[in-house]
Amino acid sequence: MSFQGKNFAIVGASSGIGAEIARLLDEQGARLFTYSRRPPTQLSAAAHWERVDVTEENFQLEGLPEVLHGLIYCPGSINLKPFSRISAADFRKELEINVVGAFRVLQQVFPYLKAAGPGSSALLFSTVAVQTGMPFHSGIAAAKGAIEGLVRALAAEWAPTVRINAIAPTLTETPLAAALLNSDEKRQSAAQRHPLRRIATPADIAQTARFLLSEAAQFITGQVWSVDGGFGRLKT
Ligand SMILES: NC(=O)c1ccc[n+]([C@@H]2O[C@H](COP(=O)([O-])OP(=O)(O)OC[C@H]3O[C@@H](n4cnc5c(N)ncnc54)[C@H](OP(=O)(O)O)[C@@H]3O)[C@@H](O)[C@H]2O)c1
Repeated sequence: MSFQGKNFAIVGASSGIGAEIARLLDEQGARLFTYSRRPPTQLSAAAHWERVDVTEENFQLEGLPEVLHGLIYCPGSINLKPFSRISAADFRKELEINVVGAFRVLQQVFPYLKAAGPGSSALLFSTVAVQTGMPFHSGIAAAKGAIEGLVRALAAEWAPTVRINAIAPTLTETPLAAALLNSDEKRQSAAQRHPLRRIATPADIAQTARFLLSEAAQFITGQVWSVDGGFGRLKT
């Protein structure tokens, strides 16, 4: 799988899963155009960064190259609350960062992905909590459910030129999930809930991302890939 000389835009390469995807692509010679509120660290000097807050009105991804072979959109949230305690403002915030931000990014980058021709692709993030109902997840499940619908509709609209897929991770060891994994008890309980008996790492998710963005996945579009240690489908 070579990404040598290929152009990838990553929204959210400064932390967690996006940082690991950026590291893998950078290592394999991709040219990176990254966007987030803080700059990414540990990328080669050639990686481009622009400050962007996807919750701001009319943000623009500046400095994109003429063609893009891939786009990865990572901003997301984990705000777990009983349904009765979620305000409409909280609910809108979930939609803003997870869905409206992705919508704006996809509208901006589509011409660049199309210009790269067949094989170019976009990758979004859902969550295991869309296909598996869990208490206190109504806000994020609704927002990521919209992402899954968006992926399928756009995959149909953009075929045969541009592919689009999503990954639905389970709880993954990143700064976003820190509050859910900040004690030995929470960590053990999280590991035990998963048939594969451990907590997902950013590398687990990034390896699947690398595959979906690569030439090896050229016949895959409109799919939501679970990377969840068996959590969503298995009883053990
Ligand atoms: N971690 C999990 O347990 C888990 C589980 C299921 C699904 N997911 C999904 O996986 C994706 C990646 O999650 P993660 O855990 O890697 O999150 P993370 O560690 O918080 O990283 C998120 C990235 O997005 C950027 N970002 C966040 N808000 C932004 C904004 N308003 N404008 C621009 N950039 C923004 C962050 O950069 P700055 O802060 O520098 O802006 C960071 O680079 C998310 O969509 C999340 O919902 C994660």
